[in-house]
Amino acid sequence: MKLSVIGCGYLGAVHAAAMASIGHSVVGIDVDADKIALLNSGRAPFFEPGLSDLLEAAIASGNLTFSTDFADAAGAEAHFIAVGTPQSKDGLSADLRYVHSAVDALLPYVAPGDVVVGKSTVPVGTAEVLAERINPAGAFLAWNPEFLREGFAVEDTLRPDRLVYGVGEGAERAESVLDAVYHVALDAQTPKIIAGYATSELVKVSANAFLATKISFINAMAEIAEVTGADVVKLADAIGMDARIGRRFLNAGVGFGGGCLPKDIRAFRARAEELGVGHSVRFLEEIDAINLRRRDRVVDLTTTLLDGDVTGRKVAVLGLAFKPNSDDVRDSPAVDIASRLAALGADVVATDPEAIGNARRREPDLVFGTLEEALTDADIVLLLTEWKDFTGIDPAWAASLVKTPIIIDGRNALPHTEWIDALWEYHGLGRR
Ligand code: UDX
Repeated sequence: MKLSVIGCGYLGAVHAAAMASIGHSVVGIDVDADKIALLNSGRAPFFEPGLSDLLEAAIASGNLTFSTDFADAAGAEAHFIAVGTPQSKDGLSADLRYVHSAVDALLPYVAPGDVVVGKSTVPVGTAEVLAERINPAGAFLAWNPEFLREGFAVEDTLRPDRLVYGVGEGAERAESVLDAVYHVALDAQTPKIIAGYATSELVKVSANAFLATKISFINAMAEIAEVTGADVVKLADAIGMDARIGRRFLNAGVGFGGGCLPKDIRAFRARAEELGVGHSVRFLEEIDAINLRRRDRVVDLTTTLLDGDVTGRKVAVLGLAFKPNSDDVRDSPAVDIASRLAALGADVVATDPEAIGNARRREPDLVFGTLEEALTDADIVLLLTEWKDFTGIDPAWAASLVKTPIIIDGRNALPHTEWIDALWEYHGLGRR
């Protein structure tokens, strides 16, 4: 099939490459000419394991091209909208300008019978409005949310755990086109749920709200553990053994960040308020607050461990990405904590295997270095992103570099007994 993918960021670039890898003929379109040039040369504009190989192979096969010209979308049977929906500058709601401008630019090239497929995360009600613009062209809209996790985006796109099709006018045509697009996943028995637009839009935001709630729940337990002497990691292990609860997404630490969870729960609150049901998701305000308090906790604990004043003390920050295997620093707890400590006068040196470039663009005044440069003569070490490069550090080697062997494990990810045996003063979050 011929497909177009509008928006070549974390979502669209992976979707375009993955669909080309299963034999579709795909054009990826983006307004950013530098990004398109990079993608056309087979290089990913961001770090995502497996993506460069997929891009290179798909481009070499002739199945994948990238363009800045929307006219190249003409002739595709399905057009995927995969642009960003960031938080508005002046409030909690999602900024939909990129979705609307993508549809504006695409519409002249949409032919009768084509299916426009929304993948971006949008406030409930958006698809209905878009359909009213697309249907007069004789084309149909489907809403097909994407659940990929950064760091596993290729795998999640090629082997999703479910497919959701939100359909309206032209439902039969939309379903048959999407079935043809996803034939590999469907042949592998991937479950498929067909719903209306509102349900499919809500599936995505409610899934992210649930995940955020799970993380903040365990972080709230970490706060309780901190004043009672309990151990939140053992608590998570024990409650997680109940199959109804499950252990995944119960890792207490500095909390969630990234381009999805924080802005999605805020946009959900804003949309619910508009709909007159703000009370239904008011708890998300607390979920957000618990999450942000974990960052305060690390700043406060660092200050306490440095005898109440961080001025001129060297703080090694290990990790900048919002999670490992990503270079994404959007709403990253690590970048926030590092900048706040630097603003308090600490001599912060931050390091990350992939995210220094993005972090520097966001926080040009922060000091960045290698792992060794960060550790050398540090008064305290903060592990804020659980990259394997950091969780596998030899604690004796690290102790030989620092001034004082004190570590805050902001992800409860280190083998703490090894660190304690190597004479480190070890502080997990929510555990003794
Ligand atoms: C999320 C959803 O998981 C995905 O389905 C959706 O499509 C996009 O949003 P992503 O933002 O890539 O994906 O990251 P995710 O793996 O969900 O992690 C989000 C944040 O939560 C990270 O900062 C991570 O460090 C944190 N986290 C995750 C925890 O603090 N504890 C956990 O137990 C799990």
